[in-house]
Amino acid sequence: MKIQHVTVIGAGQMGSGIAQVAAEAGCQVNLYDLQEGFLEKGVGRIEKNLARQVEKGRLDEKEKLSILDRIHKFASLEKAVEETDIVIEAVVENMGVKTELFRQLDEACPSRTILASNTSSLPITEIAASTNRPEKVIGMHFMNPVPVMKLVEVIRGLATSDEVYHTVESLAKELGKTPVEVKDFPGFISNRVLMPMINEAIYAVYEGVAEPEAIDQVMKLGMNHPMGPLTLADFIGLDTCLYIMETLHEGFGDSKYRPCPLLRKYVKAGWTGRKAGRGFYIYE
Ligand code: CAA
Ligand code: NAD
Repeated sequence: MKIQHVTVIGAGQMGSGIAQVAAEAGCQVNLYDLQEGFLEKGVGRIEKNLARQVEKGRLDEKEKLSILDRIHKFASLEKAVEETDIVIEAVVENMGVKTELFRQLDEACPSRTILASNTSSLPITEIAASTNRPEKVIGMHFMNPVPVMKLVEVIRGLATSDEVYHTVESLAKELGKTPVEVKDFPGFISNRVLMPMINEAIYAVYEGVAEPEAIDQVMKLGMNHPMGPLTLADFIGLDTCLYIMETLHEGFGDSKYRPCPLLRKYVKAGWTGRKAGRGFYIYE
């Protein structure tokens, strides 16, 4: 099946990025979120990114407008998915929220529709089990910022069909990404490797080993990482980092994945990073 119509659920930093790359690739894109304000903010982010491409001479004004014309905002879930080939879910990293949403999607979507999750760490098999079409449920894990990062991890649940896998692999390529197949284990590969490093950097702050700036400098200058781990944690969202560590901890039952208490404290305080204006750093 060739995907021509994509519905993105959640217009946050990931959902808006996914909507942007899908519209840039020529797909019709429906974007759904819980509130009009979230939709406006998500589309605003896309407009800003495209305007920067125009400024840099990579896109003309007419192309920018036709990309934006392909993005349609929806406040009703049922209407958003009426005609869609694939849903890509990018809401909060919480199993209860995702399974309830997938149950609703299963009821509302045409029977041909593939249901993909951009989850960072949660088991695809469990999300799929909340539907009556587990063979059409799959993980399609984009990296942040979506318009820039080339990787998409494609995760098969236990029941995911080969046909659905190949359709999603082709879609990732059409969006200009490089798909990599990964089995369904907590955190897949990306966050099984990345998040313990970030958590360890937070432990280093917690234990007073060094200031956040110093830790980030060590990893940038010493290991050539484009962002230090604490800047990256703020960029990802500390709430998302905590949920991922909890999934690793629970999923493997191994204390090496214990979330740092300082990470919990920051999330409880609402210091969830760049999107909240405060995390390990303060943002204007
Ligand atoms: N959206 C769209 N484009 C963006 C962007 C954003 N949020 N941020 C930066 N860019 C673009 C800029 O426009 C610029 O484009 P051009 O070169 O085409 O002009 C390019 O990216 C480079 O940006 P800058 O020069 O401003 O800054 P930089 O060189 O520091 O790069 C970065 C920014 C690409 C974000 C870089 O710092 C980086 O690669 N950081 C690490 C990102 C990373 O590790 N992502 C994975 C996070 S983990 C994850 O996503 C999985 C998960 O489940 C949590
Ligand atoms: P975010 O907080 O920026 O956005 C989430 C959006 O989902 C919000 O706009 C919220 O209103 C909306 N939402 C919440 N519940 C909803 C529901 N039931 N129906 C519709 N919309 C709902 O979060 P994000 O950083 O974009 O992360 C979204 C997903 O992508 C998570 O599963 C996360 O783990 C994953 N992810 C995040 C990153 C990252 O770096 N932040 C990278 C890859 C994957």
